[in-house]
Amino acid sequence: METLAYPRLMAPLTLAGKRLRNRVVHASMTTLLAENARVSDRLLRYYGNRARGGAAMIVSEPVAMSASFDQPNRVRAWNDDAVEGLKRWAETVESADCRLLGQIVDRGRGRNLPGRSCDGIGASVLPDDLSWSVPRELGAAEIRHLVAEFAEGALRLQRCGFSGVELSCGHGHLFNQFLSPRSNVRTDEYGGDLSGRAKIVADTVGAVRELCGQGFIVGLKLPGDDGVPGSVGPPEAAAIAAHLTAPATVDYVCFAHGSHARSLEQHVPDSYGPRMPYLEAMRGLRASLRGVPLAALGRITDPAEAEGILERGEAELIALGRALVTDPAWPRKAAQGRARDIRNCVSCNTCWDRITAQRLPIACDNNPRLAEPEELGAQPVAAARRKRVVVVGAGIAGLEAAWVAAARGHEVTLFGRSAEVGGKTRLRAQLPGGDSLSSIYDFQYEAARRYGVTFELGVEASVGDVLALRPDAVVLAGGSTMLAPDWLPAEMRAAGLVPDLRSAMAALLRVKARQPGTAVIFDMDHSEGTYAAAELLHTLFDAVVIVTPRDSIAQFASLVTRQGILRRLSMRRIRLEVLSEPRWSERFEHGSLETVNVYNGDASVIDNVAFLAWSTPRAPDLGLAAPLRAAGVELHLAGDSKCARDVLAATAEGHAAGRAV
Ligand SMILES: Cc1cc2nc3c(=O)[nH]c(=O)nc-3n(C[C@H](O)[C@H](O)[C@H](O)COP(=O)(O)O)c2cc1C
Repeated sequence: METLAYPRLMAPLTLAGKRLRNRVVHASMTTLLAENARVSDRLLRYYGNRARGGAAMIVSEPVAMSASFDQPNRVRAWNDDAVEGLKRWAETVESADCRLLGQIVDRGRGRNLPGRSCDGIGASVLPDDLSWSVPRELGAAEIRHLVAEFAEGALRLQRCGFSGVELSCGHGHLFNQFLSPRSNVRTDEYGGDLSGRAKIVADTVGAVRELCGQGFIVGLKLPGDDGVPGSVGPPEAAAIAAHLTAPATVDYVCFAHGSHARSLEQHVPDSYGPRMPYLEAMRGLRASLRGVPLAALGRITDPAEAEGILERGEAELIALGRALVTDPAWPRKAAQGRARDIRNCVSCNTCWDRITAQRLPIACDNNPRLAEPEELGAQPVAAARRKRVVVVGAGIAGLEAAWVAAARGHEVTLFGRSAEVGGKTRLRAQLPGGDSLSSIYDFQYEAARRYGVTFELGVEASVGDVLALRPDAVVLAGGSTMLAPDWLPAEMRAAGLVPDLRSAMAALLRVKARQPGTAVIFDMDHSEGTYAAAELLHTLFDAVVIVTPRDSIAQFASLVTRQGILRRLSMRRIRLEVLSEPRWSERFEHGSLETVNVYNGDASVIDNVAFLAWSTPRAPDLGLAAPLRAAGVELHLAGDSKCARDVLAATAEGHAAGRAV
């Protein structure tokens, strides 16, 4: 008999009389794929792909169950406007033997965008810890109305074919605000002691049960520890969980971390911290559930990790958020014993940045096909004619272009300057918080080899090298170079004595010897890699200073990433000199770097400087473009060759180029 890979992960489970084919649950992820408050084709593809990819249950993104939560990018369920789409949504998921749950949430006073909200509702008139938005306090009658709207919305979903609902009571949203003694100082029946503060949640569960009956899954996402002093820490979380599961009306629970506060980063733990960071907390909270199934949650990325959790009896279900964004076929590949083929989430939180700061539909650094046809790991559609394709650049843009073009049947040769693939991403992977990034180019490299790409590594390709292959098309993905800052004298640039940060880090990684003195980074980059370099420098020098002409740092990093950066730099006492730039003087020869305030010219000095490097805007390396164009070659630019940006742009444009040739 065939042995099943990950038998516990693949074992079925019944919730509220409904069968789950395995233990993999898609955690709620806002996608912003809805249009005009309706279900869109891309939204259906996103959920359909994850259902067909093998998840047993999907918790949807928040559905607008109350008029107060109505937004164009949330599917409306508080009236009948969108029922046709809701039915298609349920049919798409449920027909793939996957249970679909709608998520109930209101953000209340919480806000993770710049500015403050003027229309937030709340338990009490107290400011959001992150945005300082002050909500309007809900009256008791309004709360009763909201609870009724939630329950009627749940009934509407049930009639449309949904299998259940999840109440999002963590993450600092409205339910969390009611549960927390910090944000709920009411003196009426919805405040005071634990049962008062939890009443809005308990009433919603009760009202949903009453309208939808027993055969409807009701799940709770509860705060595990919202990371705000005086709010919901582990003891309060255990008491809340015990209270809300006592009436035996809840079918499963999962625990969220972080809040709309400086702890926001905790809700999407990134690659700087450990894997499965909340397992210990969940172990502590499990007893309070009295046997109600627990869905483990938080940076679980690997089927073996999931199997281990189930094997140790730490949870009954495995909730995956970002891992299923990156690879919807994660459960199917796990079931087939093909875990090595999974395209891994690298916990970069680009997805989160897209839907929050950028207010754009969800996107993923390591899934260029997100919510597109052929996302589910199938080979891209074959090209009509087999062509000779040359790719220049073995970074993540070039590798992506190469494997996709080869998978479509083209004959592909890839030139890479370095002997190893991965380009600058390989360097980033060796800095703090970078190790998971290697899985991007490892996957691409394996795929490229599988589809027969010819590698010419360690070769700085010339125009002649490229033309000698008589290519039908060329993809230029050769990267970019940092531009020296104005304040650096030409002779210093030429001598390379004050290098760009990337070159400096590549050299330092080879040596990694501790050195006395202070390391200084001049920062006109503001992306996360610069601060990873600062963290490494902290391990090698006595002190680190970051000098930037802006009023703050990390302005190109997402809010959650920025919180982590600021926390780690603060803990390491890495000094920030903002609104400043160096002014070159002979004193540098004696280890003193002068800096000036960019607005008032006030000077100060950093002494004992042993290391100085600049992290600045980058220009594409495009030496081959003009001669190849002149030779009449069909040319495609991808990633930094087009315009220097980030991992998302590199993989997306590499993928697009691989499909375009
Ligand atoms: C892009 C993005 C959107 C999210 N949207 C929601 C949401 O709408 N509701 C919710 O309860 N949690 C949301 N979350 C949190 C996830 O459900 C999950 O708790 C978190 O990502 C940790 O799980 P993971 O490490 O498996 O990704 C979101 C997370 C991300 C990254």
